[in-house]
Amino acid sequence: MLQERIWLSLALIAICSRFIWRLFFHPLSRFPGPKIAAISNLPYVKWSLNGELHTKIKELHDRYGDVIRIRPNALTYRSSQAWTDIYSHRKAGKPSFDKDPDFYIASSSGGKANLINSNNEDHSRQKRLLTHAFSERSLREQEDLIVGYVDLFICQLDRYAIGNSNSQQDALDLVHWLNFLTFDIIGDLAFGEPFGCLKDSEYHPWVSTMFQSIKTGAFLRALSIYPIVAFLIRKAMPKRLIQKRIQHYQLSKERVNRRIETKTSRPDFISYILRYNDERTMDISEIQTNAALIIQAGSETTATALAACNYYLMKNRDCYSKLTEEIRASFSSEEDITFLSVAKLPFLHAVIEEGLRMYPPSPAIGPRVVPKGGALVCGEVLPENTSVSVAHYSAFRGASNFEEPNSFLPQRWLQQDNQSRFSNDKGEALQPFSMGPRACIGRNLAYAEMRLILCKLFWNFDMDLDSRSNNWDKAKSYIVWQNKPLWVHLQRARHLSES
Ligand code: HEM
Repeated sequence: MLQERIWLSLALIAICSRFIWRLFFHPLSRFPGPKIAAISNLPYVKWSLNGELHTKIKELHDRYGDVIRIRPNALTYRSSQAWTDIYSHRKAGKPSFDKDPDFYIASSSGGKANLINSNNEDHSRQKRLLTHAFSERSLREQEDLIVGYVDLFICQLDRYAIGNSNSQQDALDLVHWLNFLTFDIIGDLAFGEPFGCLKDSEYHPWVSTMFQSIKTGAFLRALSIYPIVAFLIRKAMPKRLIQKRIQHYQLSKERVNRRIETKTSRPDFISYILRYNDERTMDISEIQTNAALIIQAGSETTATALAACNYYLMKNRDCYSKLTEEIRASFSSEEDITFLSVAKLPFLHAVIEEGLRMYPPSPAIGPRVVPKGGALVCGEVLPENTSVSVAHYSAFRGASNFEEPNSFLPQRWLQQDNQSRFSNDKGEALQPFSMGPRACIGRNLAYAEMRLILCKLFWNFDMDLDSRSNNWDKAKSYIVWQNKPLWVHLQRARHLSES
């Protein structure tokens, strides 16, 4: 009994000493933040599991300033300087900030590392090849294929529109329909065949599986800070969930194999990969894991950004009218709406930037670790292995970066003079695609899709928000948002019936 008490006391002393060290003597003890987060990883894990990491970090930045300690060994930032210091290309000879292995855990579904979780060496080899599939030229060649899906999307939405005598005239969930569209587009570009979501007006079972597997992945990531707990949870997790993650990869594998066997020169990603893979830069297993990644990274993100733009436009009718006028005055017929022509619309571009700022598809963090020997971030030397990140939602909605940060004001992205109320906005703090060598490879494709889809939507329909979706943007996030339905009433555009 006495011995047990001694052991218990020793354990308590060890734990308390650790807490005291973390609080007062740890190299990060000089940074502000809640004391509980300075001594323990538990608050971070709890926020992640509750889907509130993005809002909690924002609350803390609003209270403590531009840098906070969110875990004993982790800082988050919200300034544009932090973007440059942590994420940008480093000068020759300076080691880079690598991805934090506690966050970018290896996939549990099999296969090799992909662009997101590979080390720097594998990453640059894979990226060299994949860049061909995402070049300006490829994008031009992919336009017809993408336009075909957007036209099918418009045609399917018309079934719900007032003004169409055969329509159901019901509210529709725009989040679902935008996901049907972007999954069909990326499915076709990645595998040479769509998921058929638009045609069938429902999620392909694989797409539903994928949503579930993203959430499981987010849980495992949060818990990976406690490897033993993560291991036990993995063991205790319903087999069905793990199975779904494996299934996603297996299906990608089968589809990539099928696509490779089909000799065709259609401008999908596989065509470019095969065309430039002479030196066997990527083997088949890497092509398969990257195809699976692209489906995840390139569909839901774009659909979310589009849903957000539509939501904020419907909530801000003056912006809605301004965009409608810009689009309808710029084209004489729908055929004029092309990748090239939509890139010239300034208010449309401003709407997209503002939508990405208010509701960034990747709302929380993408942590990196300070390299060996330590490094300077925002004027402070940090010890090696510190986990550092810019928190997207906090930076994009931070009052230190943007005037009226919680209001949807696309005009802040239009040409400003010194007298403008937005002249102190720090536009460089908005990096929804991240920056530097590990930034989003699909950025140009995403912009081209977003412009085209918004233009065609606003060309064809007038929209009203259903009251059920009044607070649509108050959502949880598990790496990506857990979007609520966006209920919308459609009406065929007046200018089409008038002409
Ligand atoms: C609005 C739409 C999009 C947003 C906001 C977005 C955002 C991001 C962000 C923040 C990252 C960095 C992730 C990290 O550091 O952990 C990323 C990486 C990536 N994204 Fe996107 N993305 C979008 C659309 C797309 C599209 C359309 C594709 C492809 C079809 C795509 C493919 C990828 C890939 C492959 C990576 C990994 C790049 C690398 O590590 O080199 N994304 N994206």
